[in-house]
Amino acid sequence: MSQGRRQQKGLFRRLAEWFESQQRILPWREELTPYRVWIAEIMLQQTQVATVIPFYTRFLMRFPDVESLASADLDEVLIYWSGLGYYSRARNLHKGAKIVHQEGRFPQTREEWLKIPGIGRYTAGAILSIAYNQPEPILDGNVERVLSRVNCIGGETAEVNKRLWQTSEEWVKRADREGIEPRNFNQALMELGATLCLPKKPLCLLCPIQENCKAYRLTAIDAYPQKLKRPASVQLREEVFCLVDGKGRILLSKRGVGEWREGLWDFPIDLPEGLLEEHSAEKAGEMESRHVVTHHKIIRRTVVWKIQISGDDCPLPNDYRWVSPGESFASGSPAKQILRQLERKWPDFFQKKVNFQRIKS
Ligand code: ADE
Repeated sequence: MSQGRRQQKGLFRRLAEWFESQQRILPWREELTPYRVWIAEIMLQQTQVATVIPFYTRFLMRFPDVESLASADLDEVLIYWSGLGYYSRARNLHKGAKIVHQEGRFPQTREEWLKIPGIGRYTAGAILSIAYNQPEPILDGNVERVLSRVNCIGGETAEVNKRLWQTSEEWVKRADREGIEPRNFNQALMELGATLCLPKKPLCLLCPIQENCKAYRLTAIDAYPQKLKRPASVQLREEVFCLVDGKGRILLSKRGVGEWREGLWDFPIDLPEGLLEEHSAEKAGEMESRHVVTHHKIIRRTVVWKIQISGDDCPLPNDYRWVSPGESFASGSPAKQILRQLERKWPDFFQKKVNFQRIKS
């Protein structure tokens, strides 16, 4: 065995032993079933561990297994997701649960998992290694940092990505042959990236594999992983209506297929025909808020109208509804932000009955 290979053997074992003694206690580590690991990995995409914990716990209480998730209404799933952001994750999970439930079994291989909506190469690898203990590679931001530093992997983006995946695959397979369980090994890589091998100020002195780290030896930790240039952000403007009626209800519309925040309730961009014209309505003011979606910066102008609905409610199209104060509905952060602003600016809106005379724009 070459010296490099011998050193790597020590590396894998030290890493696994460090994980066994130092790992954080996290709710998704309590029971490593495919369903629980799947939910955790989806929630953990683009979201910090500390944020995910309460959402994960609540979600698992309400949807403890794939049957309960598959048979739930998407609206309810979105309510449990409300606040986590990136709602396409919840819609895909719901679709995926229906597929798994219909098939009567969980996917067993990488190819099968990749057919489930929302599952990419990383998530398939994480589920197969953590829940099924298969020697499958993983590569997320945390693992990328560890592998690129330990091996000084840099260069052209596509090439770097290929080498990082190859390294991840080689490592988990070799560790497996040395008797280290893939579930422990891959979680150890993630944990090292999340707790010691940090983007800024990594804690190299505590690192169990410091002596194997090429970047550390070359005092080049800050050079890895190499930074990518981000695409310039695009600024957009949008205008929405906030209609408040005499009972303090607010008119919302459900975002449609293919729109940002599909399936979530938000302030309408268009109003049902005749609504403003056929009732007594008066402009009460305007608010501006800023939101970010991927590389878009959205400046939203909300025009607030007070409206007196005369007689019975007129019928609304399916994707519109009046929401009363205190009623729950799934919404994204722009709608929540506007509701908070409204509450601060016009607290009367949130009382059961609105006295329009007291509202000043
Ligand atoms: N980030 C992504 N997956 C994770 C996991 N299983 N545990 C902790 N952090 C993670």
